[in-house]
Amino acid sequence: MPQLRAPRGTRDLLPDDAARFLRFAEVARGLTERYGYRPIETPLIEQAAVFERGIGEVTDVVEKELFRIAPRTEESEAWALRPEPTAGIVRAYVQHGMQTWPQPVRLTTTGPMFRYDRPQAGRYRQFWQFDVEAIGDPGPAVDAEIIELGLRFFAEVGVQGAEVLLNSIGDPACRPAYLEALVAFYRGHAAELPPTERDRLERNPLRLLDSKDPAMAALNAVAPRTVDHLCEACAAHFAGLRRHLYALAIPYRIEPGLVRGLDYYTRTAIEFYVAGREGQQQALGGGGRYDGLVELLGGRPTPGIGFGLGLDRIALVLDEQRGTAEAAGPGHHDAPDAVVVSADPADTVGRLRIATELLAAGLRARADLGHRKLGRQLEAAGRDGAHFAVILGDELAEGQVQLRDLEAGTQRAVAISDLARELKRGASQHRHG
Ligand code: HAM
Repeated sequence: MPQLRAPRGTRDLLPDDAARFLRFAEVARGLTERYGYRPIETPLIEQAAVFERGIGEVTDVVEKELFRIAPRTEESEAWALRPEPTAGIVRAYVQHGMQTWPQPVRLTTTGPMFRYDRPQAGRYRQFWQFDVEAIGDPGPAVDAEIIELGLRFFAEVGVQGAEVLLNSIGDPACRPAYLEALVAFYRGHAAELPPTERDRLERNPLRLLDSKDPAMAALNAVAPRTVDHLCEACAAHFAGLRRHLYALAIPYRIEPGLVRGLDYYTRTAIEFYVAGREGQQQALGGGGRYDGLVELLGGRPTPGIGFGLGLDRIALVLDEQRGTAEAAGPGHHDAPDAVVVSADPADTVGRLRIATELLAAGLRARADLGHRKLGRQLEAAGRDGAHFAVILGDELAEGQVQLRDLEAGTQRAVAISDLARELKRGASQHRHG
């Protein structure tokens, strides 16, 4: 039988990686709590229409990368796995009447996303994002606030040199005129356009600006820039954002080609990179303002802004910056305070009973559940890094066990009724000594 494997483009997070992702999630939780965000969990599946309408039909994410779930019966809905959390969170905002809550509603989630893309380094079909959304505030102060939050997350998880790329891509007032100028420009260079881009020009011209095709680089360097075509309100918003960033001493770079891959964006577009890694597939995070999205998904017109940070890519960058990919293998975990072993190789009942009492008392304890000799059990406890071994022997009948300090190599009799207290005292001495 062929060996079974994780699907292409997905990967197992083995204990070291999974522990690291949990740590990212803990940093995210601590930070967002301080910044006033409340957690939200939306389903990993949504009606496909949430993404088609929210993200846009003519985007790579919806056109090519959506994991669609075939309806099981004729009357059931078309679903898709979420490629990103924003559309689902905004769907929930509308569905649950969050417009009536004090605004802005600050929401955060961390979890897996799914995109059927061609897998490569830093691009997976299942990947993790830490996401924040502030819905109901037109900005620009909140735009600066979330950029600062993003940078603080990078600092707290230990990423060095995170940079902000910024652009304003206008709104429905100024974008049509800009798009006209853009289309006219590309039409004037039709002969230089690769066929895929020529097709896109008719359907979603903005996307040509961040084309991955190297043939487009020279053309895009001289293409009309969104920032030069902003209406007064968008220009004032962008200037306001820059003023706030200046006041917070946050450096940023304006990147005229930054248009983002999802259609819901208006005005502020943000991407986070580590210096020297500004290529495609290298963004550690992205986001921006989506002032039309709530309305698009059936709510009252409500502004919003947010970002998503890619935890898989952040883990890769941390490995690079530390110069080592963490060695694969069982790795290290917090050592137990005590392992319960016994002279009688068969007495797993006794060991499990005592270990359970210690666990109930709040200790990190486990029983050796193998049927092997005492010497072997002690060796394994030592390999596990346990501070103490609790040895069950003949004195069990008198309510006593032997407590062996595995580091000091000393051993003494302790009453079972005192065992948890003694271990707690010993464990805290070990931790502080
Ligand atoms: P996005 O730019 O599509 O934005 O994704 C955000 C981040 O997720 C990327 O910068 C990247 O780090 C990571 N990412 C995306 N695709 C993959 C992949 N296939 N493999 C690994 N990592 C990936 C959004 O998703 C928006 N929802 C962000 C947002 C929130 N805008 C407003 N609110």
